[in-house]
Amino acid sequence: MLKLSKLAAALALVAAGTAAMAGEVEVLHYWTSGGEAKSVAELKKIMEAKGHVWKDFAVAGGGGDNAATVLKSRVVSGNPPAAAQIKGPAIQEWAAEGVLANMDPVAQAEKWDSLLPKVVADVMKYKGNFVAVPVNVHRVNWMWANAAVLKKAGVAGMPKNWDEFFVAADKIKKAGLIPVAHGGQNWQDFTTFESVVLGVGGPKFYSDALVKLDQKALTGETMKKSLETFRKIKGYTDAAAPGRDWNLATAMVMQEKAAFQFMGDWAKGEFIAAGKVPGKDFLCAAAPGTANAFTFNVDSFAMFKLKGAAAQKAQADLSAAIMGTEFQEIFNLNKGSIPVRLNMNMAKFDDCAKLSGKDFVETAKTGGLVPSAAHGMAISPAAEGAIKDAVSQFWNDDKISVDEAQKRIAAAAKTK
Ligand code: BGC
Repeated sequence: MLKLSKLAAALALVAAGTAAMAGEVEVLHYWTSGGEAKSVAELKKIMEAKGHVWKDFAVAGGGGDNAATVLKSRVVSGNPPAAAQIKGPAIQEWAAEGVLANMDPVAQAEKWDSLLPKVVADVMKYKGNFVAVPVNVHRVNWMWANAAVLKKAGVAGMPKNWDEFFVAADKIKKAGLIPVAHGGQNWQDFTTFESVVLGVGGPKFYSDALVKLDQKALTGETMKKSLETFRKIKGYTDAAAPGRDWNLATAMVMQEKAAFQFMGDWAKGEFIAAGKVPGKDFLCAAAPGTANAFTFNVDSFAMFKLKGAAAQKAQADLSAAIMGTEFQEIFNLNKGSIPVRLNMNMAKFDDCAKLSGKDFVETAKTGGLVPSAAHGMAISPAAEGAIKDAVSQFWNDDKISVDEAQKRIAAAAKTK
C-alpha cells in the first residue's frame, strides 16, 4: 500500500512537471503548397517531441500578403499568435508597435550572434534585442527549367543572358510548348521583374533602383530597357496565366508543358516534393545575366509578447528549435533554401543548394548580394506594395507605355 501511494505521488509529480513545461504555440505562416507544408511539418514534429502543442495557423496565399492582413486583425484585437512569419523591414514596423517579445535570453544562451551573418542578425533585432528568429536563406534570382523540354526544342543549355533567353524561348514556342510558366499575381510579376532589373542593369543598378529607390535610376535608360525586356517576356507566357498560383506554374514545368519558370528556390521544394531529381529532371541556373548576383530572401518568425509561463516557455523552445542544427538541415532540404545558420554541414544538399551557398558567400564579398524587393527584404511594405501594383498594371495592360510605367513606378517609390 505504502509503495503504491508513493508511486502515485511520484506520478502526480511527473504529471505536474510536464503540465508546467508544456505550452501551446500558435504559429501563423503561409506555407501551404506541397513542398512548403512538408517543410513546416518538421517544425511541428520537433515541437511536439518537446511536449508542446502546435496550433497551426496557415493562411494560404503565395508571398504572404493574405497572412499579413490576417495577422493585423489578430494583433489589433489583442490576440496575437506566438509566432508569425514576418520578414525584413516589416519586423521593425511590428516591433515599433511594442507587440514583439524580447528573445535575448534564448539568443544569448544559444549564441545566435556568432551563428548568424551580421546582416541577417541586424534585421532580426529591434533596438539591439532579438525579436525575430531567422529560418533560411532563399535566393530569388533563379530560373528553373525542364531538361526534357529543352532537349525537345533543341535548346542546348540554360540561357546566360536575355538575348540567349529569347532565342531559346522562340525555339520552345516553335516546338509547340510554353516557354515561360507564369502565375499572374502581382507578387509573381514583381518577382520576375526584379530578376530582369538585376539581369539588365547588374547589382549596382538594382540596388540604386529597387533598394535605395533612387529617382534618377528609376527614371533612366536602364530602367527603360528593363521594362522593355520584362514586357517582351510576357509574350512567351500562356493565356491562362492570370491568377495562377506559383506552385501550379512550377507544376507546368514538371509536367513538360512549359520550359522555364522565374521563381525563388521555394520552387525547388515543389520539384523535390514531387520526387523530381535536380540536374536530371529539372535544371537550376541564375536568371539570365544574374550569375554574379544574389537576391536574398530570409524567412523569419517574429515572436509576439505572450502572457503565462507555459506559453513563454513554448515560445522560447520554438525559437531555439528554429536555430538548431536539426531543424536547419531538414527544413531547408525540403524548402529549397539553404540554412541561415553558419557553418552547417551541406553534405546532404543538392547542387542547386550548393551553388546557392557558394554564391551567397562570394556575392557578399563582391557587392552582388542584394535584398529582394519583391519579397519584403529591401523596402518598407508601403513602398513595396505600391511598386508591386505599378509593375503588375504594366504587365497586365499593353496600353500602358514603358514611359508611363516608368513614371508610375517612380511615383510609387515615394510612398511612405
Ligand atoms: C517566402 C517563401 C514562400 C514563398 C511563396 C516567399 O516570399 O519567402 O517562404 O515559400 O513566398 O509563398
